[in-house]
Amino acid sequence: MKIGIHHRNNSFSDRWIQFCQENSIDFKIVDAFHSDIIEHLKDCDAFMWHHHHADFKDVTAAKKILFALEHAGIKVFPDFKTGWHFDDKVAQKYLLEAINAPLVPSYVFYDKQQALNWAKETTYPKVFKLKGGAGASNVKLVRSYSQAIALINTAFGCGFAQFDRLGYFKERFNKFKNGKDTFLGVLKGFARVFIVPEFSKQQPVEKGYIYFQEFISNNDSDIRVIVIGDKAFAIKRMVRENDFRASGSGNIIYDKNEINENCIKLAFEVNSKIESACTAFDFVIHDDKPLIVEISYGFAISAYDSCPGYWDSNMDWYEGHFNPQQWVIENLIKK
Ligand SMILES: Nc1ncnc2c1ncn2[C@@H]1O[C@H](COP(=O)(O)OP(=O)(O)OP(=O)(O)O)[C@@H](O)[C@H]1O
Ligand SMILES: [Mg+2]
Repeated sequence: MKIGIHHRNNSFSDRWIQFCQENSIDFKIVDAFHSDIIEHLKDCDAFMWHHHHADFKDVTAAKKILFALEHAGIKVFPDFKTGWHFDDKVAQKYLLEAINAPLVPSYVFYDKQQALNWAKETTYPKVFKLKGGAGASNVKLVRSYSQAIALINTAFGCGFAQFDRLGYFKERFNKFKNGKDTFLGVLKGFARVFIVPEFSKQQPVEKGYIYFQEFISNNDSDIRVIVIGDKAFAIKRMVRENDFRASGSGNIIYDKNEINENCIKLAFEVNSKIESACTAFDFVIHDDKPLIVEISYGFAISAYDSCPGYWDSNMDWYEGHFNPQQWVIENLIKK
């Protein structure tokens, strides 16, 4: 068994490489962006790439390469069922509806008039989201019909930039106020109002569709559960001050007793239907029932290193430190 790995610093590949080195597993580092990547992988049985939604080269190339290899019988991570819907909340809506998973009721329109008709009839608040993005950067509360109209006009007009410059500045300023960012961070955020980052210049504007969810009120946090094979771990993310959004707040609770175990059970159940090698589920609670907000195969690494332990699918708890990226590569080898 030989594994090809596309390496990116501070991604899952750091730990995959370390695992191969420590366990004498044959591997080689490849450059997925080389035109001859398929040829370069001819001596490999597997290929792994922790591709990132905010890296435009990754977005352009990763799924094509991974799925072509999978099509030809090579083991890959993330494979099709794990990754086809990555960073696409609209795709996730269809998938979760198709498998009868409890998704927060979600609405998508590809036609301006249909969106306007719906906006006139529906109740408020609603949550507006772009299909891509993380850290709650492209997630907004829509309090009224007139706000919905403005968003619909933009969605079917000039479109939305994926990188919200003003939102980014506000986020850094609020974090600074709460002692979670430095003054230099605020200055950098301010500079970003004028100097658009390189990845954002490359990303096309988001237009031609609009996506809303029901607003699930009274959640002071969301629960993120990550399932990898037969194991799951979770964190509770508290919402920002005077805000409904938890992800990206930096306020994480690692206490097992703070995690609603129904979220863990549901995550195992839904993940087995998706047949995914690795899924992070974000849950909010409505009338005591967990509802899925979104799913993602990728996640920040260091944020989970403080988890006190993990569950197996029988809901048995295993206390202690663990290495999720190692589980991913172990499971791929076993496959
Ligand atoms: N429909 C909803 N009702 C109530 N709260 C919601 C809803 N959707 C999202 N949220 C809150 O907003 C946060 C961000 O939403 P979401 O997870 O969809 O966006 P994201 O930017 O993709 O986040 P992530 O960083 O987790 O990838 C969630 O963590 C949750 O706290
Ligand atoms: Mg989320």
